[in-house]
Amino acid sequence: MDVLDCLEENVIYEVLVVTGSGNAHNVSPFGLRYVDKSFVLDLFPNKTLLNIKKTNSFRVYFLYDALLFTRALLDDVSVSQLEESCHCSVLCDVGSMESGMLSDTRGKNIITRIIAKPTKIMTNNSTLPLINRATNHIIELLVDFSRYEYMDADVRSNFKEKVVMYEKIIIKTGNEKHKKAIKMIKERIE
Ligand SMILES: Cc1cc2nc3c(=O)[nH]c(=O)nc-3n(C[C@H](O)[C@H](O)[C@H](O)COP(=O)(O)O)c2cc1C
Repeated sequence: MDVLDCLEENVIYEVLVVTGSGNAHNVSPFGLRYVDKSFVLDLFPNKTLLNIKKTNSFRVYFLYDALLFTRALLDDVSVSQLEESCHCSVLCDVGSMESGMLSDTRGKNIITRIIAKPTKIMTNNSTLPLINRATNHIIELLVDFSRYEYMDADVRSNFKEKVVMYEKIIIKTGNEKHKKAIKMIKERIE
């Protein structure tokens, strides 16, 4: 079965996106949609966007590993680590790129919509897609953390309370990797 048939249209999937060329790779988490057999990324100005503009391509990694998501956002992760842990990766060639203004809690910002065709699929391991609350909670905290520098004092204080609250659930329901991930997040905000 084609793994792309597993994807539902217009659902946002959290993935890691690798861009760059040669040995200079950049890995970051993004929300991705699958629409009309194409992948859609909505990107704020960031390194991933710059790289995609240069190469017109990117690779999407589907994986369910909270620590690798944490490393991708806060620290660093190698492509070989992704290869080991991902269920599947898909090489994509950009078909179109369109920029517009978006107003949200961060104020006004340029957002660029990238529509890309999957060109090569590599399936790796076939573990069960198990749902785990610790993973979900870490992903939720990472989404907030990626906006940390735009938060005012009140929002930061709410976020810190959320981290304390989520930590309890993560410790109760997660494994050692989840515990390491929440430790890394806490270290960044302390
Ligand atoms: C789960 C998750 C989903 C995210 N989705 C998006 C997204 O759809 N678009 C975006 O521009 N940033 C998104 N972000 C924030 C980027 O990952 C973050 O800004 C990152 O620092 C960009 O890295 P780069 O400069 O290496 O490209 C997301 C973060 C997380 C943790």
